[in-house]
Amino acid sequence: MSSYEKPDFWAQKAKKEGYPARSVYKLEEIDRKFGLARRGQRILDIGAAPGSWSLWVLKRLAGTGFLAAVDLQELGMQVTFPNFRFLRGDLYAPEIRAELLALGPYDLVLSDAAPATTGNRLVDQGGSEAIVEAVIDYGLACLAPGGALVAKIFQGGAEAGLLKRLRGSFAQARGFKPEACRSESFETYLVATGFKG
Ligand SMILES: C[S@@+](CC[C@H](N)C(=O)[O-])C[C@H]1O[C@@H](n2cnc3c(N)ncnc32)[C@H](O)[C@@H]1O
Repeated sequence: MSSYEKPDFWAQKAKKEGYPARSVYKLEEIDRKFGLARRGQRILDIGAAPGSWSLWVLKRLAGTGFLAAVDLQELGMQVTFPNFRFLRGDLYAPEIRAELLALGPYDLVLSDAAPATTGNRLVDQGGSEAIVEAVIDYGLACLAPGGALVAKIFQGGAEAGLLKRLRGSFAQARGFKPEACRSESFETYLVATGFKG
């Protein structure tokens, strides 16, 4: 077993580097592969708690640009950057949607949102697929031309249809599974770049 595959490798690294969750390394890998996040951008983080992705983005922005984030849960850390706005609420709620859209347009929409798992794979896949549909709706409504979108999905057959939908509005769209995903996990990410506007 390589050190990357040890169950606690990423969790320990996150703790050492001050991130509340190991998921930050999935975003780091996605960004390394696709070169998405840059200083000065406006970015939206959907399903942000406990806050690793938001913290990573804020470090990348280094005081420039703006980050909006939303989650059903509070963040698991104190974040008081002047270029950061966190909304606690449901991404499906019309008032949250309106508020997030008003804070745009964004150059990058990120979603690591996932439904609370039930143990029933079909139900969980359905919940994940519905979230990705909603995230794509956000992207189409609030991305600036040339913008990009990243959305986590539980693999289960819906990916091909969602990628097809994305390819209608973006120059490229593909699936990408970071090494930092647990090997037994059935999550993957859809990455779309070059929003046509
Ligand atoms: C895997 S966690 C995200 C981890 C985060 N990227 C980080 O690095 O800290 C998934 C999050 O999606 C959120 N979520 C699920 N459904 C949601 C919804 N309808 N509206 C807002 N957030 C939601 C959950 O509350 C949960 O905090």
